[in-house]
Amino acid sequence: MNFYYGLSETRVVVLGPPGSGKGTCAGFISKMYSIPVIRTGDMLRKVATEETERGRITKKHLDRGELVLDEIVIGIVSKRVRMPDCEEGFVLDGFPRNLVQAEALNRIQEDLGMGLSHVLNIVTDAETIISRLSLRRTCPRCGAVYHLKNNPTKMDEICDECGTKLILRSDDREEIIRHRFEVYEEKSRPLLEWYAKAGLVREMRGDLDINEIPEVLRQVLEGK
Ligand code: AP5
Repeated sequence: MNFYYGLSETRVVVLGPPGSGKGTCAGFISKMYSIPVIRTGDMLRKVATEETERGRITKKHLDRGELVLDEIVIGIVSKRVRMPDCEEGFVLDGFPRNLVQAEALNRIQEDLGMGLSHVLNIVTDAETIISRLSLRRTCPRCGAVYHLKNNPTKMDEICDECGTKLILRSDDREEIIRHRFEVYEEKSRPLLEWYAKAGLVREMRGDLDINEIPEVLRQVLEGK
């Protein structure tokens, strides 16, 4: 399949293993460029609470650290990127996750006449990830991501953005984290080659101090 380039605003795909900092970087990019973040993990955790067949299937995959079915994820993303707030750009955190999804995104781009501007690849190792995820806390309401030591909230485990009590995700147990890492290696890593062929990949270290991230992101995305 040919890669669709089209017009590029700031349309970023963030790739990297679980816990590498995709959500954190996507949040910074969203603020820096005033564009929405599309977080498939958050959207799917919401679907998993539905009392429907789709909800039950999604919950089963999430709890095991497996990828949720392509048709469910592609349907959700396809609808979301067509919303008016995405016209000026967006950042995709957690999509695509395999080549079927990358091809689906390519078709959506072609359909909407919009190209990706960057694919940001965050590079980290498994041990950093495991120590990080056990101390991660997320906001179940707005999706903001914190870390008890490296990126704490101002008030004890209360979201700075919306005041909601933070939670520990059910898939942040060590054996599930290790399995998510294996799934990444098998299904998601091949995406790097696909996007590298299109010349879109920019690499970034995942072990930077959190305060350094916005400036490094600016350099990586704007080539400065
Ligand atoms: P998802 O919610 O996307 O999880 P993930 O990819 O496993 O990634 P994480 O959210 O765990 O980590 P992250 O890379 O965003 O890191 P974060 O910024 O939080 O997906 C969950 C599940 O949903 C999947 O397993 C799958 O089942 C399903 N799913 C999602 N998308 C799908 C798709 N397209 N197709 C099919 N299924 C799909 O950072 C981690 C922690 O480290 C935080 O506490 C943070 O504060 C801290 N931190 C970050 N950067 C730094 C730093 N530089 N220094 C110190 N601490 C840092």
